[in-house]
Amino acid sequence: MQVLHRLPHIKDKDLLVGIETADDAGVYRLSERLAVISTLDFFPPIVDDPFTFGAIAAANSLSDIYAMGGVPRLALNIVCFPKDLGLDVLNEIIRGSMDKLKEADTLLVGGHSIVDAGIKYGLSITGFINPKNVKANKGAVPGDALILTKPIGTGVIASALKAGRLKQSKAVDALAGMTALNMAASKAMVEAGANACTDITGFGVLGHAMEMARGSGVNLVIRSSDIPLYPFAYELVKMNANRPRTLFSNRDFLIKDINISMRDSDLELLLFDPQTSGGLLISIPSDRASMLVRRLKRAGVPATMIGRVVRKEKGWRIMVE
Ligand code: CO
Ligand code: CO
Repeated sequence: MQVLHRLPHIKDKDLLVGIETADDAGVYRLSERLAVISTLDFFPPIVDDPFTFGAIAAANSLSDIYAMGGVPRLALNIVCFPKDLGLDVLNEIIRGSMDKLKEADTLLVGGHSIVDAGIKYGLSITGFINPKNVKANKGAVPGDALILTKPIGTGVIASALKAGRLKQSKAVDALAGMTALNMAASKAMVEAGANACTDITGFGVLGHAMEMARGSGVNLVIRSSDIPLYPFAYELVKMNANRPRTLFSNRDFLIKDINISMRDSDLELLLFDPQTSGGLLISIPSDRASMLVRRLKRAGVPATMIGRVVRKEKGWRIMVE
């Protein structure tokens, strides 16, 4: 959030990750071997089915802990709910969420709800990590390979679903992707010794890659043809009505630092598509990258190498081939 940049910088020797580097969560050291990770996310329904929405919201919130390399442990609900809507809908949302929390071995310990015009749901998650394992936007070094652990395209798919331009049955892969936890991916990248990591959400793959480039003081080269897409995302982005507004605000915000040499303007738009519960973007020394991709695939994570880290150069931050 841009408003965060106007807040005063906090200095505390135990605050390992604060708001300066646009990271996924705050990290605070409790002892030499233990730090607490804290994060919060909530949003309006992106799918009609309340159970699925709850599961996606939970997977998305948990992801900010996984992106830092941590283990989630406690969760708090944040609920906005209209007073004229049946509580069975809210029950289903929370049931979907608790299903994912259980999978993540995370305990729901409370929360807060208010009456509001529209539904919004999310969670604040608290997790733990060994301070030496913290993965952040900073840390990527020239020579690293970039690995992405989920396809992209959930923004255009969700808007097509909402408007009835895509049948639910054609979005099964995207829905399964959004409800999939980044747990296995996180564990594998920590064990493999990743240099930096973030998750792909609202700013799209290029927005979050940009945060890593800036946080690490490096430039990135991304091979657009290697980025996996969810089924129908490419067809859907061709229709203007399916393009979320955020896609264009992402592009406007980022474009001055991006050097695009690819020719496919539809694929280009998808690189700015806001993602919900997207995959991890991992920066790892290239000699360990294929080992990590193999390990991720064995764990059922559809990981691919999508680019590399290069030395910082003036005039651009990310080159898209
Ligand atoms: Co995040
Ligand atoms: Co977030």
